Parts: sequence; structure tokens; C-alpha cells
Amino acid sequence: MTPPLIAPSILAADFANLQRDVEFLNQSEADWIHVDVMDGMFVPNISFGIPVCEAVNRHATKPLDVHLMIVQPERYIEAFAKAGAANPDRPGTITVHLEACTHLHRTLTQIRETGCRAGVALNPHSPVELLADVLDEMDQVLIMSVNPGFGGQSFIPHTLQKIRKLRQLLAGSGHTALIEVDGGVGNDNVAALVEAGADVLVAGSSVFKAAHPSEAIHQLKFFNPALRQ
Ligand code: DX5
Ligand code: ZN
Repeated sequence: MTPPLIAPSILAADFANLQRDVEFLNQSEADWIHVDVMDGMFVPNISFGIPVCEAVNRHATKPLDVHLMIVQPERYIEAFAKAGAANPDRPGTITVHLEACTHLHRTLTQIRETGCRAGVALNPHSPVELLADVLDEMDQVLIMSVNPGFGGQSFIPHTLQKIRKLRQLLAGSGHTALIEVDGGVGNDNVAALVEAGADVLVAGSSVFKAAHPSEAIHQLKFFNPALRQ
């Protein structure tokens, strides 16, 4: 069994010490840096935008995993690609919400054209079957395990069934897109998530609010003692 990739979310970092927290992630066992962009329209909260993504990119040594929780995300693909998601030294991902895209196929194509991996996020109410006609265009699916907009919410257990269904959908069609899970991920559900088929785990509070964040990342990645050899 391969350990899951870990993508700590800087939404839970200390924004007054962002450089310090990004440098911490560089040194840690984290694989990607998850960047949560919220516009106060698609989700009720506003987080940060392009300049903060650029600032993270200036200090990061790992790929940026940009999660756009914004309406009409196609308007900002180019800007976030330039702000670090398409960094040629460590190409990252731009993920858009299915619920926010009128022309999802076109938007995913647009993301790949910038040199980024293309991701689709699904809110808890959106069935995985809605992805059937964009399988060739996506590199990753982000399954939201909370309603997007805030860190620190409780994991919605129904998510596990969605991950299993998506795993079957991908296997049945021979696609290798990664399955990422975002929201309420921690020690209490990591084993079930990986068993269900998750490849990438986003973790905000369970990393940055932990007493020992580097140990928290280690525990998520090597939750199974068999992986620690
Ligand atoms: C929620 C964001 C998440 C959030 C996760 O809308 O997309 O990435 O940062 O935070 P935790 O891990 O605290 O649920
Ligand atoms: Zn996110």
C-alpha cells in the first residue's frame, strides 16, 4: 500500500507568519501545499486571492494545490497559474468546482493548457456520476467532505461511499485521476479514507492546530504501521 499524499491547507496557517509556515511545510513530510481561495459568492467566506498565492509560491518548494471556491473560475485560471500553480520547477494543480462551471469541459482544457494539472471539486450533494463525461479531461477529483467555506468543520461520513463509487468509476474506465478528500480529515478517519480509495488528503486544522504539526503530518501519511518500515 502506498502512503497517501498529504496536502496541508494554509487556510489554517498563521497569516501573519505565512513565510514561516510555508517554510515549515517545505521541511515537513507534506507533499503539496493546499491553497484555499474563497470569494464570498460561491462560498459564504472570503479567504485570500492572487497576491497571497504569489507570496506562498515565492517561498514554497512543493507543488501548489490551488482550490478555487469561486464563481466563474475560468476568469482566473491564467492568473493562478502565473501566481504559482504552473511553476515549471514543481507544476501544481488548479481545481474548480463542478457547481461553479457552466462549461466544465472547456475550463479543464484551459487549466491543462497553462501547464497545471486539472482538478474538479464536488460539493457533498453532487454525485460522482456527474463526472462521467469529463474523465479524459481531469487529473484529479476533489471530494468535499464538508460544505466548503470554512476550516475546522466535521467530516460528513457519507463521503466514504462517494469515494468508493468514484474509485469504481475510474477503475472501470481505466482512468488514473487521483482522488483527493478535503474537510475534517484527521487521525480518526484517515484509515477509512485510504481504504475507500483516497490518494490525497487535505488537512487544515488537524495539522496547523496540532501541538506538533510535523508529527501530525507524519501520522496522517504513515497512519498504518505497515507503511512505516
Ligand atoms: C474548506 C476548505 C478546506 C479547509 C479544510 O472549504 O476547502 O481545504 O481548509 O480545513 P479542515 O482540515 O480544518 O477541515
Ligand atoms: Zn480546500
